[in-house]
Amino acid sequence: MKTFDTIDELRAWVGGEKRRGLSVAFVPTMGALHGGHRACIEKAAELGDVVVVSIFVNPTQFGPGEDLDKYPATLDKDLELCRNLGVAAVFVPETREMYTTNQNVWVEVEGLTSPLCGRSRPGHFRGVATVVAKLFNIVAPDTAVFGQKDAQQAVVINEMVTRLNLPVRVALAPTIREPDGLALSSRNGYLGDADRQRAASIYQALLAGRDAISRGDRTAKTIIEAVQTRLATGGIDDVEYVELVTADTLEPIDRVEGRVLLGVAVRIGTTRLIDNVVLTVAADGGVTEAMLF
Ligand code: PAJ
Repeated sequence: MKTFDTIDELRAWVGGEKRRGLSVAFVPTMGALHGGHRACIEKAAELGDVVVVSIFVNPTQFGPGEDLDKYPATLDKDLELCRNLGVAAVFVPETREMYTTNQNVWVEVEGLTSPLCGRSRPGHFRGVATVVAKLFNIVAPDTAVFGQKDAQQAVVINEMVTRLNLPVRVALAPTIREPDGLALSSRNGYLGDADRQRAASIYQALLAGRDAISRGDRTAKTIIEAVQTRLATGGIDDVEYVELVTADTLEPIDRVEGRVLLGVAVRIGTTRLIDNVVLTVAADGGVTEAMLF
């Protein structure tokens, strides 16, 4: 497995692979890799001949007071996981390699970034879209894989690729969870034992929302209340949002039909956690979990 910390060396290597006729599948990450990243890498291995992973804690997507300075770093373990998964190359740039001057050019995906996490994290998706656009231009992948765990991010990236005609196919990996339902996240490590137990209620609350829909409830307000009630009984009192939106355009809905995204953001202690389920409501009323796209 190759590791590169400069753009030029990575580009030269990718160029060589492409000249040999190999397709490139790319998984951007911020490191502290876990089973969710693994699922993205495994999906990439299905879709491309060679897999490239980037590990870069992107400062432009963190707001003031967020966890940029304490974001977990486990590079040796990350490289070992990548090696075990057959990754061909890992790109690990320093910040000064990615941002050589004050960044004065940004990719702004309008509309899709106003609901859900966009409301409380102004500038976050601008930072994500900008760094992913840069990484796409550096790696020049045929395919890039994102996790449904960060559903809004995946929709934003897909929109960027479509509207800017970027020659990359965006694919999704499903959300990977702990046995008790908590979605894997690099931030779970911030949680102490009691908070970790409480965090299991996030997914249970999403399932309570799903159950309400299965029982025939189609009113967003009462479905959202079912989620909020389950969060409260689980001891989660700092709820940033519970929202029901369309799965494709992320527009808030009053009534559930077709494919919808039920998303949650909460704070447990100082740790902010997000999760979601994408649900398809069939004509016969049956509810199944679905992929975003
Ligand atoms: P990071 O949080 O490291 O996540 C990298 C990729 O792993 C993302 O596509 C994310 O959705 C996916 N992922 C994380 N947890 C997952 C889980 N439990 N199941 C499935 N997939 C999961 O997302 C970022 O980094 C950054 O914003 C990035 C896109 C790299 C831009 O800086």
